[in-house]
Amino acid sequence: MSGIRSTGFLHLGNYFGAIRNYVRMQDEYDCYFMVADLHTLTTHPDTTELKNNVHRVLAENIACGLNPEKVALYCQSHLHETAELYLYLNMLAYTGELEKTTTFKDKVRQHPDNVNAGLLTYPVLMAADILLQRATLVPVGKDQEQHLEMARNFAKRFNYRYGAGDDIFPEPQAFNFGEQLVKVPSLDGTGKMSKSENQNAAIFLSDSDDQIRNKVKKAKTDSGPTAPNTPMPDYIENIFQLLRLVSAPDVVEKYLADYQGASIRYGDLKKQLGEDMVNFIRPVRERAEAIQNDETYLRQIMEMGAEKARKNARSTMEKVRSAMGLSYY
Ligand code: TRP
Repeated sequence: MSGIRSTGFLHLGNYFGAIRNYVRMQDEYDCYFMVADLHTLTTHPDTTELKNNVHRVLAENIACGLNPEKVALYCQSHLHETAELYLYLNMLAYTGELEKTTTFKDKVRQHPDNVNAGLLTYPVLMAADILLQRATLVPVGKDQEQHLEMARNFAKRFNYRYGAGDDIFPEPQAFNFGEQLVKVPSLDGTGKMSKSENQNAAIFLSDSDDQIRNKVKKAKTDSGPTAPNTPMPDYIENIFQLLRLVSAPDVVEKYLADYQGASIRYGDLKKQLGEDMVNFIRPVRERAEAIQNDETYLRQIMEMGAEKARKNARSTMEKVRSAMGLSYY
Protein backbone atom coordinates (compact mmCIF):
# COMPACT_ATOMS: atom_id res chain seq x y z
CA MET A 1 0.00 0.00 0.00
CA SER A 2 1.19 3.48 -0.73
CA GLY A 3 -0.13 7.00 -1.06
CA ILE A 4 0.59 9.42 -3.86
CA ARG A 5 0.48 13.15 -3.21
CA SER A 6 -1.87 15.02 -5.54
CA THR A 7 -0.04 18.34 -5.52
CA GLY A 8 2.49 19.16 -8.19
CA PHE A 9 3.47 17.42 -11.41
CA LEU A 10 5.30 14.12 -11.63
CA HIS A 11 8.89 14.29 -12.84
CA LEU A 12 11.52 11.83 -13.95
CA GLY A 13 12.73 11.40 -10.36
CA ASN A 14 9.25 10.28 -9.27
CA TYR A 15 9.12 7.92 -12.23
CA PHE A 16 12.39 6.11 -11.55
CA GLY A 17 12.16 6.47 -7.76
CA ALA A 18 8.57 5.51 -7.00
CA ILE A 19 6.29 4.68 -9.90
CA ARG A 20 8.58 2.11 -11.49
CA ASN A 21 8.65 0.33 -8.12
CA TYR A 22 4.83 0.30 -7.98
CA VAL A 23 4.67 -1.12 -11.50
CA ARG A 24 7.01 -3.95 -10.53
CA MET A 25 5.11 -4.62 -7.30
CA GLN A 26 1.80 -5.03 -9.10
CA ASP A 27 2.95 -8.30 -10.64
CA GLU A 28 4.09 -9.81 -7.35
CA TYR A 29 1.78 -8.46 -4.66
CA ASP A 30 -1.80 -7.54 -3.92
CA CYS A 31 -1.45 -3.76 -4.22
CA TYR A 32 -3.38 -0.71 -3.00
CA PHE A 33 -2.32 2.67 -4.37
CA MET A 34 -4.15 5.73 -3.18
CA VAL A 35 -4.24 9.37 -4.20
CA ALA A 36 -3.79 11.28 -0.94
CA ASP A 37 -6.26 14.08 -1.67
CA LEU A 38 -7.19 14.67 2.00
CA HIS A 39 -3.59 15.14 3.04
CA THR A 40 -3.32 18.07 0.62
CA LEU A 41 -5.94 19.97 2.63
CA THR A 42 -3.40 20.39 5.42
CA THR A 43 -1.35 22.74 3.24
CA HIS A 44 -3.67 23.61 0.31
CA PRO A 45 -7.09 24.61 1.72
CA ASP A 46 -8.13 26.02 -1.68
CA THR A 47 -9.77 23.13 -3.51
CA THR A 48 -10.46 24.66 -6.93
CA GLU A 49 -7.62 22.71 -8.56
CA LEU A 50 -8.15 19.51 -6.59
CA LYS A 51 -10.26 17.60 -9.13
CA ASN A 52 -7.87 18.42 -11.95
CA ASN A 53 -4.86 17.41 -9.88
CA VAL A 54 -6.41 14.12 -8.80
CA HIS A 55 -7.29 13.28 -12.40
CA ARG A 56 -3.80 14.16 -13.58
CA VAL A 57 -2.05 12.08 -10.94
CA LEU A 58 -4.25 9.08 -11.75
CA ALA A 59 -3.69 9.54 -15.48
CA GLU A 60 0.07 9.91 -15.12
CA ASN A 61 0.39 6.83 -12.95
CA ILE A 62 -1.64 4.73 -15.36
CA ALA A 63 0.36 6.12 -18.29
CA CYS A 64 3.54 4.95 -16.53
CA GLY A 65 2.25 1.40 -16.41
CA LEU A 66 0.12 1.05 -13.28
CA ASN A 67 -2.72 -1.26 -14.25
CA PRO A 68 -6.04 -0.43 -12.55
CA GLU A 69 -7.28 -3.95 -13.34
CA LYS A 70 -4.46 -5.41 -11.25
CA VAL A 71 -4.12 -2.93 -8.39
CA ALA A 72 -6.71 -1.06 -6.38
CA LEU A 73 -6.17 2.53 -7.51
CA TYR A 74 -8.38 4.80 -5.44
CA CYS A 75 -8.87 8.18 -3.78
CA GLN A 76 -8.41 8.64 -0.08
CA SER A 77 -11.62 10.69 0.29
CA HIS A 78 -13.70 7.89 -1.24
CA LEU A 79 -13.06 5.69 1.79
CA HIS A 80 -15.04 7.24 4.64
CA GLU A 81 -13.72 4.55 6.96
CA THR A 82 -10.39 6.42 6.89
CA ALA A 83 -11.89 9.30 8.85
CA GLU A 84 -13.23 6.96 11.51
CA LEU A 85 -9.95 5.14 12.02
CA TYR A 86 -8.11 8.48 12.03
CA LEU A 87 -10.33 9.58 14.93
CA TYR A 88 -9.57 6.47 17.00
CA LEU A 89 -5.85 6.61 16.27
CA ASN A 90 -5.76 10.26 17.33
CA MET A 91 -6.55 9.12 20.88
CA LEU A 92 -3.46 6.88 20.77
CA ALA A 93 -1.13 9.53 19.37
CA TYR A 94 0.64 11.83 21.80
CA THR A 95 0.95 15.54 20.99
CA GLY A 96 4.58 15.38 22.12
CA GLU A 97 5.58 12.84 19.47
CA LEU A 98 3.58 14.64 16.78
CA GLU A 99 5.24 17.97 17.55
CA LYS A 100 8.65 16.33 17.25
CA THR A 101 8.02 15.03 13.71
CA THR A 102 10.51 16.46 11.21
CA THR A 103 7.92 17.20 8.51
CA PHE A 104 5.71 19.02 11.04
CA LYS A 105 8.59 21.23 12.16
CA ASP A 106 9.43 21.98 8.50
CA LYS A 107 5.83 22.91 7.72
CA VAL A 108 5.61 25.21 10.74
CA ARG A 109 8.66 27.00 9.44
CA GLN A 110 7.28 27.23 5.88
CA HIS A 111 3.70 28.25 6.74
CA PRO A 112 3.76 29.91 10.17
CA ASP A 113 0.35 31.46 9.38
CA ASN A 114 -1.42 28.09 8.95
CA VAL A 115 -0.32 25.69 11.67
CA ASN A 116 -3.59 23.74 11.77
CA ALA A 117 -4.27 20.60 13.81
CA GLY A 118 -4.49 18.56 10.59
CA LEU A 119 -0.86 19.37 9.95
CA LEU A 120 0.05 18.11 13.41
CA THR A 121 -1.88 14.86 12.91
CA TYR A 122 -0.73 14.33 9.31
CA PRO A 123 1.16 11.15 10.33
CA VAL A 124 -1.98 9.83 12.05
CA LEU A 125 -3.97 10.17 8.82
CA MET A 126 -1.22 8.41 6.93
CA ALA A 127 -1.22 5.62 9.53
CA ALA A 128 -4.99 5.32 9.08
CA ASP A 129 -4.51 4.85 5.30
CA ILE A 130 -2.03 2.06 5.87
CA LEU A 131 -3.65 0.28 8.82
CA LEU A 132 -7.11 0.42 7.23
CA GLN A 133 -5.81 -1.91 4.51
CA ARG A 134 -3.80 -3.87 7.11
CA ALA A 135 -0.86 -3.42 4.76
CA THR A 136 2.48 -5.08 5.50
CA LEU A 137 4.72 -3.47 2.85
CA VAL A 138 4.77 0.24 2.14
CA PRO A 139 6.97 1.53 -0.69
CA VAL A 140 8.00 5.04 0.38
CA GLY A 141 10.93 7.38 -0.06
CA LYS A 142 13.35 8.32 2.70
CA ASP A 143 11.33 11.44 3.57
CA GLN A 144 8.38 9.27 4.67
CA GLU A 145 10.24 6.77 6.84
CA GLN A 146 9.60 8.64 10.07
CA HIS A 147 5.86 8.66 9.32
CA LEU A 148 5.98 4.93 8.68
CA GLU A 149 7.75 4.34 11.97
CA MET A 150 4.94 6.26 13.68
CA ALA A 151 2.37 4.08 11.90
CA ARG A 152 4.15 1.03 13.34
CA ASN A 153 4.01 2.56 16.81
CA PHE A 154 0.29 3.31 16.52
CA ALA A 155 -0.33 -0.26 15.32
CA LYS A 156 1.62 -1.71 18.24
CA ARG A 157 -0.12 0.58 20.70
CA PHE A 158 -3.53 -0.34 19.36
CA ASN A 159 -2.76 -4.06 19.46
CA TYR A 160 -1.40 -3.78 22.98
CA ARG A 161 -4.30 -1.75 24.32
CA TYR A 162 -7.21 -3.40 22.55
CA GLY A 163 -5.95 -6.59 20.95
CA ALA A 164 -6.26 -8.86 24.00
CA GLY A 165 -3.35 -10.92 22.66
CA ASP A 166 -4.60 -10.78 19.07
CA ASP A 167 -2.85 -8.55 16.58
CA ILE A 168 -5.52 -6.53 14.82
CA PHE A 169 -2.93 -4.63 12.81
CA PRO A 170 0.25 -6.04 11.27
CA GLU A 171 3.30 -3.76 11.55
CA PRO A 172 3.91 -2.10 8.20
CA GLN A 173 7.48 -2.15 6.87
CA ALA A 174 9.18 0.12 4.32
CA PHE A 175 9.70 -1.59 1.01
CA ASN A 176 11.82 -1.11 -2.09
CA PHE A 177 13.51 -3.30 -4.63
CA GLY A 178 16.87 -2.73 -2.90
CA GLU A 179 19.75 -2.30 -5.33
CA GLN A 180 17.28 -1.15 -7.96
CA LEU A 181 16.92 2.26 -6.31
CA VAL A 182 18.35 4.68 -8.85
CA LYS A 183 19.43 8.22 -8.32
CA VAL A 184 17.98 10.74 -10.74
CA PRO A 185 20.16 13.86 -10.67
CA SER A 186 18.84 17.34 -11.39
CA LEU A 187 20.00 19.15 -14.53
CA ASP A 188 21.75 21.99 -12.71
CA GLY A 189 24.28 19.75 -11.01
CA THR A 190 22.83 20.25 -7.52
CA GLY A 191 21.64 17.00 -5.98
CA LYS A 192 18.62 15.03 -7.07
CA MET A 193 15.71 16.01 -9.25
CA SER A 194 12.93 17.58 -7.21
CA LYS A 195 9.83 19.56 -8.02
CA SER A 196 10.23 22.19 -5.34
CA GLU A 197 13.76 23.33 -6.14
CA ASN A 198 14.55 24.63 -9.62
CA GLN A 199 11.71 24.03 -12.14
CA ASN A 200 14.20 24.13 -15.02
CA ALA A 201 16.37 21.44 -13.48
CA ALA A 202 13.58 18.84 -13.46
CA ILE A 203 11.99 17.07 -16.42
CA PHE A 204 8.25 16.66 -15.89
CA LEU A 205 6.21 13.90 -17.50
CA SER A 206 3.96 16.66 -18.86
CA ASP A 207 6.78 18.69 -20.48
CA SER A 208 6.47 19.31 -24.22
CA ASP A 209 9.19 18.08 -26.60
CA ASP A 210 10.64 21.58 -26.88
CA GLN A 211 10.57 22.18 -23.14
CA ILE A 212 12.55 18.96 -22.66
CA ARG A 213 15.08 19.89 -25.37
CA ASN A 214 15.56 23.36 -23.90
CA LYS A 215 16.02 22.14 -20.34
CA VAL A 216 18.59 19.58 -21.42
CA LYS A 217 20.39 22.15 -23.56
CA LYS A 218 20.80 24.37 -20.48
CA ALA A 219 22.19 21.59 -18.29
CA LYS A 220 25.44 22.55 -16.63
CA THR A 221 28.64 21.63 -18.51
CA ASP A 222 32.08 23.22 -19.01
CA SER A 223 34.60 23.42 -21.83
CA GLY A 224 35.44 19.72 -21.55
CA PRO A 225 38.49 17.67 -20.49
CA THR A 226 41.78 18.84 -21.96
CA ALA A 227 43.73 15.62 -21.32
CA PRO A 228 42.72 11.93 -21.62
CA ASN A 229 41.38 10.16 -18.51
CA THR A 230 40.59 13.33 -16.58
CA PRO A 231 38.38 12.63 -13.52
CA MET A 232 34.75 13.52 -14.25
CA PRO A 233 33.17 16.45 -12.38
CA ASP A 234 29.86 15.74 -10.61
CA TYR A 235 27.70 17.69 -13.01
CA ILE A 236 29.07 15.77 -16.03
CA GLU A 237 28.67 12.48 -14.13
CA ASN A 238 25.01 13.54 -13.66
CA ILE A 239 24.51 13.97 -17.41
CA PHE A 240 25.90 10.49 -17.98
CA GLN A 241 23.61 9.13 -15.27
CA LEU A 242 20.60 10.60 -17.09
CA LEU A 243 21.91 9.20 -20.38
CA ARG A 244 22.08 5.73 -18.80
CA LEU A 245 18.40 5.99 -17.82
CA VAL A 246 17.00 6.86 -21.25
CA SER A 247 19.59 6.04 -23.93
CA ALA A 248 20.82 2.83 -25.55
CA PRO A 249 23.94 1.22 -23.99
CA ASP A 250 26.07 1.76 -27.11
CA VAL A 251 25.27 5.47 -27.04
CA VAL A 252 26.46 5.67 -23.43
CA GLU A 253 29.63 3.73 -24.36
CA LYS A 254 30.40 6.05 -27.26
CA TYR A 255 30.22 9.24 -25.20
CA LEU A 256 32.14 7.69 -22.31
CA ALA A 257 34.92 6.74 -24.73
CA ASP A 258 34.85 10.28 -26.17
CA TYR A 259 35.20 11.65 -22.65
CA GLN A 260 38.12 9.36 -21.81
CA GLY A 261 39.82 10.38 -25.05
CA ALA A 262 39.18 14.09 -24.30
CA SER A 263 37.41 14.43 -27.65
CA ILE A 264 33.87 14.80 -26.28
CA ARG A 265 31.61 17.59 -27.53
CA TYR A 266 29.09 18.46 -24.86
CA GLY A 267 26.81 20.10 -27.43
CA ASP A 268 26.42 16.74 -29.20
CA LEU A 269 26.03 14.87 -25.92
CA LYS A 270 23.20 17.15 -24.81
CA LYS A 271 21.54 17.00 -28.21
CA GLN A 272 21.53 13.20 -28.00
CA LEU A 273 20.29 13.22 -24.40
CA GLY A 274 17.56 15.71 -25.34
CA GLU A 275 16.28 13.52 -28.21
CA ASP A 276 16.40 10.31 -26.17
CA MET A 277 14.62 12.07 -23.32
CA VAL A 278 11.92 13.31 -25.71
CA ASN A 279 11.43 9.77 -27.05
CA PHE A 280 11.16 8.46 -23.52
CA ILE A 281 8.70 11.06 -22.21
CA ARG A 282 6.52 11.64 -25.27
CA PRO A 283 4.55 8.35 -25.22
CA VAL A 284 3.95 8.69 -21.47
CA ARG A 285 2.77 12.28 -21.84
CA GLU A 286 0.46 11.44 -24.76
CA ARG A 287 -1.06 8.48 -22.94
CA ALA A 288 -1.56 10.58 -19.79
CA GLU A 289 -3.27 13.33 -21.77
CA ALA A 290 -5.66 10.90 -23.43
CA ILE A 291 -6.57 9.32 -20.08
CA GLN A 292 -6.99 12.68 -18.38
CA ASN A 293 -9.49 13.76 -21.02
CA ASP A 294 -11.54 10.60 -20.56
CA GLU A 295 -13.60 11.42 -17.47
CA THR A 296 -15.85 8.39 -17.91
CA TYR A 297 -12.89 6.06 -17.77
CA LEU A 298 -11.40 7.89 -14.79
CA ARG A 299 -14.68 7.64 -12.89
CA GLN A 300 -14.87 3.92 -13.67
CA ILE A 301 -11.40 3.14 -12.40
CA MET A 302 -11.85 5.29 -9.28
CA GLU A 303 -15.08 3.46 -8.45
CA MET A 304 -13.52 0.08 -9.09
CA GLY A 305 -10.49 0.89 -6.90
CA ALA A 306 -12.58 2.32 -4.07
CA GLU A 307 -14.86 -0.74 -4.14
CA LYS A 308 -11.90 -3.06 -3.69
CA ALA A 309 -10.25 -0.96 -0.97
CA ARG A 310 -13.57 -0.49 0.82
CA LYS A 311 -14.00 -4.25 1.24
CA ASN A 312 -10.79 -4.38 3.29
CA ALA A 313 -11.71 -1.18 5.11
CA ARG A 314 -15.12 -2.47 6.21
CA SER A 315 -13.77 -5.70 7.58
CA THR A 316 -10.92 -3.87 9.36
CA MET A 317 -13.35 -1.43 10.98
CA GLU A 318 -15.61 -4.23 12.21
CA LYS A 319 -12.62 -5.80 13.94
CA VAL A 320 -11.50 -2.40 15.28
CA ARG A 321 -14.88 -1.43 16.77
CA SER A 322 -15.34 -4.79 18.33
CA ALA A 323 -11.81 -4.86 19.77
CA MET A 324 -12.30 -1.39 21.22
CA GLY A 325 -15.59 -2.38 22.82
CA LEU A 326 -17.62 0.01 20.67
CA SER A 327 -20.42 -2.47 20.14
CA TYR A 328 -23.38 -2.26 22.48
CA TYR A 329 -25.89 -4.65 21.03
N1 TRP B 1 2.58 11.27 3.09
C1 TRP B 1 2.91 10.66 1.83
C2 TRP B 1 3.77 11.65 1.00
O1 TRP B 1 3.79 12.80 1.31
C3 TRP B 1 1.70 10.28 1.04
C4 TRP B 1 0.86 9.26 1.77
C5 TRP B 1 -0.38 9.45 2.29
C6 TRP B 1 1.22 7.89 1.99
N2 TRP B 1 -0.85 8.27 2.81
C7 TRP B 1 0.09 7.31 2.65
C8 TRP B 1 2.34 7.12 1.69
C9 TRP B 1 0.11 5.96 3.04
C10 TRP B 1 2.35 5.79 2.08
C11 TRP B 1 1.24 5.21 2.74
O2 TRP B 1 4.39 11.24 0.04
